Parts: sequence; structure tokens; C-alpha cells
Amino acid sequence: MSAQIIYGDQLAQSLREDMKQEVKKLKNKGVVPKLVVILIGDDPASKSYVSGKQKAADFIGIDSELITLPSSTSETELLKLINDLNHSKGVNGILVQLPLPEHINEQHIIEAINPDKDVDGFHPISIGRLLTNQDTFLPCTPLGILTMLKSKNIEIAGKHVVVVGRSNIVGKPVGQLLLNEHATVTYCHSKTKDMSLYTKTADILIVAVGQAGFITSEHIKEGATVIDVGVNRIEDGSLTGDVNFEQVKEKAAYLTPVPKGVGPMTITMLMKNTIKAAIAQTK
Ligand code: GUN
Repeated sequence: MSAQIIYGDQLAQSLREDMKQEVKKLKNKGVVPKLVVILIGDDPASKSYVSGKQKAADFIGIDSELITLPSSTSETELLKLINDLNHSKGVNGILVQLPLPEHINEQHIIEAINPDKDVDGFHPISIGRLLTNQDTFLPCTPLGILTMLKSKNIEIAGKHVVVVGRSNIVGKPVGQLLLNEHATVTYCHSKTKDMSLYTKTADILIVAVGQAGFITSEHIKEGATVIDVGVNRIEDGSLTGDVNFEQVKEKAAYLTPVPKGVGPMTITMLMKNTIKAAIAQTK
């Protein structure tokens, strides 16, 4: 058996077409969704993510402003900027690209963003709402993963979801999101002993560890759905996931590729959250 590949880029493109129509209608009502992205320093990966966000916003018709600041920017200066944007009526969504330079406390910054404009879904209020299953801005990668699973009608309720990785951005929230969808959720991480004991029982395996080829066919059950969140640059300069694609595709029922998998969906969900913010703030 060879897995059906879930192409996130194709799904993302079709969702962006839908959003373009939605934004057109909003504009007719005088609502122009606006996202402000703050990029500090010149990390090449961050620059590339941010340019992907700008491109998606342009396509959909979302007004997006990029504020680039030098890595010498102080925490106080950044907090002041966020405070201004919190109070700026035309700004619906605020995203501060992570990671931040070491002298800036990431948590201080995340907590300074008005939860009504928290399109990343990283604010403790957003996370608390996710935990208690209330309407909120869902973190973009977890929401992208859920959307990919639903696009293939993959059953979640009652299934065993194993999440490998426990980051605040992906691992932890994706487990919570799928728990809300009635999955049985197990988290594995760097201190887990005999990881394959757990991964082998996963109906849906979500991997976000940042190690090229970490998951092999030995780790998975025949017929599993495998979602690869990893983006690793290898020696030849190409991008590869956390899953050994060639091995796992012979055993899994569904598998996401890298690139063209989860990545484009993450950006698309950011646009979805920005439109949601604009609508909520217009009411
Ligand atoms: N850095 C890597 N992924 C993300 C993300 O989803 N949001 C932000 N703000 N920074 C990131």
C-alpha cells in the first residue's frame, strides 16, 4: 500500500481563493482586514516566513503591513509599539515573528498583545480558551493540521492521536485541539522512554520535533495518518521533514509532504484568523 499524500499547498490555494471572495464582500461593506507583522532582526528563516505571509495577504486582499526593526530594539520599544497597535482602530491582527533576540522576553511580548488581535493564538487567554474549548483564535499550525485532516474526512473522535513534540506553538496546542475533537491524546517528547511503544499505536501521528527523518517506518502502525510539521534544512540546502517520507509512505494511509504540506496551511490559517478578527472587531 502507498499512502495518499495530503498536499497542503493545493488545499491552501483553494482556501485562499475562498477567502479572496470573502474579503471582497467585506470590502463592499467597508471592512478591510488588516494584519501587522513585526519582524525583529534578520534571521533568514524568519524573513522567508514573513514574506510568505505578505504574499498570501496580497493574494487574498488583506491589508498587511510589515514593520522591520533592528535586533538592537529594546523590549520597552517593542512593548510601546504593540501598545500603539493595540489601540490602532484600523489594525485587526498583530503578529510578532518568533524567535526574538535573547534580550527580549518572549512571554512579555506575547502577553502584551490585545487578545482580540492575537491572530497567532499564543496569548495565555487564547490558550486558556482553547483548553476550555471556547471560541478563540486557534494557533495557526494546529488549525492548519485540523483543516487538513477534515479535508480528507479522516476520523478523529475516539482515535488515538500521538503528538511527538511539546512546543507551545505546535505540540501542546495541537493535542488540545484534537482532544476537543474527542481524540484520545498522548504526548511524546525528548524524555519519553521507548517512544515507538506509543507511536506504533497512533491512528494519527503528529510530529513536530525539528530533526530530519526522526520518524521511520519502525515507528508507525500500518494504515496510520502521519502529519509532518518538521522543516529542516539539510546539507544539500533542501528542506526536509521530521518523517522519513520514502519509508513511511509505504506503510501509512495518509502522509503530508515537506515542503508543500503543513507550511502553506499555517500561513493560510493566519489569514483566516485575520479575517475573523476583522469581522469580530466590526461588530
Ligand atoms: N515562528 C515560527 N512559527 C511562528 C508562528 O506561527 N508565529 C510566529 N509569530 N512566529 C513563528
